[in-house]
Parts: sequence; C-alpha cells; structure tokens
Amino acid sequence: MHVLVTGGAGFIGANFVHTTVEDYPDATVTVIDKIGYAGNPKSIEGLDRVKLVVGSTEDRDLMDALVGEADLVVNFAAESHNDNSLVDPSPFIYSNLVGTFNTLEACRKHHVRLHHISTDEVYGDLDLDDPRKFTPESPYWPSSPYSASKAGSDMLVRAWVRSFEIEATISNCSNNYGPYQHVEKFIPRMITNRMDGVRPRLYGDGLNVRDWIHVLDHNMAVWAIIEKGRLGETYLIGANGEKNNLEIVRALNRMMGFDEDDFDWVKDRPGHDRRYAIDPTKLMEETGWAPKFTDLDKGLKDTIEWYQANEAWWRPAKEETEKKYAAQGH
Ligand code: NAD
Ligand code: DAU
Repeated sequence: MHVLVTGGAGFIGANFVHTTVEDYPDATVTVIDKIGYAGNPKSIEGLDRVKLVVGSTEDRDLMDALVGEADLVVNFAAESHNDNSLVDPSPFIYSNLVGTFNTLEACRKHHVRLHHISTDEVYGDLDLDDPRKFTPESPYWPSSPYSASKAGSDMLVRAWVRSFEIEATISNCSNNYGPYQHVEKFIPRMITNRMDGVRPRLYGDGLNVRDWIHVLDHNMAVWAIIEKGRLGETYLIGANGEKNNLEIVRALNRMMGFDEDDFDWVKDRPGHDRRYAIDPTKLMEETGWAPKFTDLDKGLKDTIEWYQANEAWWRPAKEETEKKYAAQGH
C-alpha cells in the first residue's frame, strides 16, 4: 500500500506518518508538505519507507503526479491557526480550498481513495450550558476565516462524492494535543512560555471550552475510518475531553511547579468560539474505535516532558511566533 499524506510534516500529519510506518509494515509513505512556517521536516526525519516531497497541494501538476502513484490519500494539508487567519486570511483560501480542489481532481482522475481531515470548528460553537454536542447532522456555521475555509473544503469533498462518485470519507475532530505541535498553539505555547520564564496568557475570560483529544487517538480513529468507515460518510472524532482554558492553564502551572493563578489575562480573540463538544457515537458504533489516552493529566505531563526533552525541535520557531502574538496584543 502506498499512502500519500498531504501536510505530513505538520503536527497531526507527522504523528500519522509515525503511526503508519509503525503499524503498517507493508506501507510506504510519500509526504507532500510546503514546509512553510508550520511544517518541520525534523518531525519525520529518519523514518523508514517515508519520502518527503517539498511542494504545495496548490500545484495541480505535482498533485496529479503524486496521487497517480498512490493507493490512498490522507489530506491533512491546511493552514491551521485561527489567530493567523484573522491577520491574513489569504493563505487559508489557497491552501485549504484550492489545495483540496486539486487533491479531489487528482483522486477523481486516478480513482484513488481519499480521506479528508477536518475540524469540529465547521459547526461553529455551543453555549456553555447547551446540553447538545456536535453530531454529523449539525449545521455548518463557521466563525473564522480558518474554519470557513475548512467548511468549504468539506463541502467540496461532499460534492465530488455525489457528482463524481469519488471514494472519500471525511472526519471532523476536536482539539488535539501531543508531541510535534507548533508552539503557536495553546498548550505548547503555555509550556514553552513557562520554560522561557514568561507567564502564560489567557484570552478573554478564560472560560472557552475545548474538547481535548490526544493526537494518537485522533490518528487511530482516522485509520479506523479508512479501514471500516462507509464511503461518502462523515465521522466526528472526539474523546469526551471538555475543559475550559482556565482549567488547562491552571493544570499546566501546577504540573510545572508554579502557582496555578500565575498567568496574565489578555484581550479576547475576535469572534472567539465559546465551546466545542463532540458526540463520537457514530464513529464508535460503526468502526469499534475508542480513545485510549483518556487520562488528560497524564497526557499533559507527558506533553510537558516531550517539550522539555525536545527544545531543539521547537526553539527555532519560538521567537518568530511570539513576535506575531505581540503584534496582535496577545
Ligand atoms: P499544522 O499547521 O501543524 O500542519 C499543517 C501542515 O500542512 C503543515 O506542515 C503545513 O506546512 C502543511 N501545509 C499547509 N498548506 C499546505 C499546502 N498548500 N501544501 C502542502 N502542505 C501544506 O496543523 P495540524 O494541527 O497538524 O492540522 C492538520 C489538519 O488537521 C488540518 O487540516 C486541520 O484543519 C486539521 N485539524 C486540526 C486539529 C487540531 O487540533 N490541531 C483538530 C481537527 C482538525
Ligand atoms: O477544534 C479544532 C481546532 O483546534 C483545529 O481545527 C485548529 O486547527 C486548532 O488550531 C485548534 O483551534 P483553537 O483555536 O481551538 O486552538 P488554539 O490552540 O489556537 O487555542 C485554544 C484555546 O486557547 C482557544 O480558546 C484560544 C485560547 N488561547 C490560545 C492561545 C494561543 C489562549 O487563551 N491563549 C493563548 O495564548
């Protein structure tokens, strides 16, 4: 089996490549990644049976050639950070929409199976006291340029399934954490700020809820969908990990030996989604998947240890990231 992983030098894609070579000894992998600010070749360096092609999914000819060699395409490639999309939405439109369009066209031409990776943010947000969770039937109601571009990419996949009968599935997952996550994201930013002697920064009132899942649980769910999911279907991936941001900052502070309230409040993110919550029933019932890394405290401790042990991996990105945040008042 030859797998093309778009965005495979990013956080979730790189973890997916590691899992794939470990769990599928017959698989060979080509990663296509544009290696912009977010992609890091070191995340997949030295892996057997993995080839990195530095290039963009926006390059239609390149996608045509790479998809033509593959048995399966897993589409992780995307501009992924909400705060960046509020400063400059442009790359989000090209990577997330045009890139997915090229991927779909190549899969259509070469009759290659596609799994498209998406986010729970396409469903907008829930009130804190809303008893509902997102299901595959929830209406799309994205809030940011990032989530709107992901919603558009999902719609393209659905249209290509219906009109051209391509063999595709979609998954929408909640907030991931774990190794190889860029220091712009909440948990790695908090950990690496602490390591740099800088107080963590909490947006708004800190009560926004995210439904945390370990990246390995996400990727095992992706493989379960590829193997057992029904073509044309959408599956929601989540591990019942709802926590508000204040709880996460306090936990990280305690684990790193600081007073739990040793952080700064900063201005809120414009359009900041209040709460995400996933109902993964369909995924669990149809594929038998269940999350394994459900002890969030242990997951956070392991993640702290990973960043402490891998400063050489994240350090080159830290200064630039904090400069971007300073310009936004964050
Ligand atoms: P990331 O930013 O760490 O990785 C994205 C990777 O895609 C990077 O390596 C980047 O260089 C690459 N990329 C971007 N545009 C590209 C293009 N046009 N051509 C080739 N490569 C390109 O993000 P991530 O957190 O790993 O997210 C991966 C996917 O998972 C995204 O589709 C995202 O929407 C989705 N997702 C993320 C989360 C999360 O919590 N991080 C949750 C649900 C879904
Ligand atoms: O829900 C899935 C989504 O999760 C993915 O689709 C996105 O790609 C991924 O980036 C993530 O989006 P969020 O916007 O939820 O993640 P982020 O890490 O940017 O922020 C998490 C929460 O923490 C959010 O409520 C904003 C807050 N925050 C973030 C940072 C960086 C802070 O309070 N302080 C910070 O310094």
